[in-house]
Amino acid sequence: MKGFIFDLDGVIVDTARYHFLAWKKLAEELGVDFTVEDNERLKGVSRARSLEIILELGDIRATEAEKQVWMRQKNDDYLEYVSRMDQKEVLPGVLSTLRFLKENKGKIALGSASKNARLILEKTNILPLFDAVVDGNDVSKAKPDPEVFALAAQQIGVNAADCVVFEDSVAGIQAANAAGMASIGIGDAGILQEADMVYPDFIHIDAESLLKKIR
Ligand code: BG6
Ligand code: MG
Repeated sequence: MKGFIFDLDGVIVDTARYHFLAWKKLAEELGVDFTVEDNERLKGVSRARSLEIILELGDIRATEAEKQVWMRQKNDDYLEYVSRMDQKEVLPGVLSTLRFLKENKGKIALGSASKNARLILEKTNILPLFDAVVDGNDVSKAKPDPEVFALAAQQIGVNAADCVVFEDSVAGIQAANAAGMASIGIGDAGILQEADMVYPDFIHIDAESLLKKIR
């Protein structure tokens, strides 16, 4: 039995873009210069850590109360984008890959840092394809810690060595490697250098030959 663990943001849906736009708005209000390059560091990490990185960029010290207000503000803006999502936002090739893996008796899990993960799976109507969902509400240690993937593997009842993780972030690839799982990067091979394999997107993944490769 094989387990396939999918990250959500930037892998299944292009919400990395919405996270960026919402953080960018807050950064501007705080007078912080925040670029697309800076945003790479926010991918895969928790909401609280993302805010810390932005505050570090602007050399801003803040109280816990201020941080809570800003995180809420960012999340409200982010949820505005999410509220308009539907299945059309599932990235090309993802649905057919999920269905193929399921038909071939693979177990499918989500392993995401996001506390909004279930909402997004519901909005895009793909929740029924998942045998387990582990998200930011279930873990105490953020990627690159392997906790989220270890828990996902446990929930689908598959050994770590038989799991394959699909990730778009450096922190996520490191987490998959630390969990002892095969790591497949989705995105830029130059950025995701620590991944076992990198594909630009799911259109370029032939699930059948992938299954053979990892058997
Ligand atoms: C990850 C994203 O999936 O979830 C991060 O890559 C994000 O950018 C994190 O900060 C937490 O998401 P949320 O939805 O709980 O704020
Ligand atoms: Mg991601």
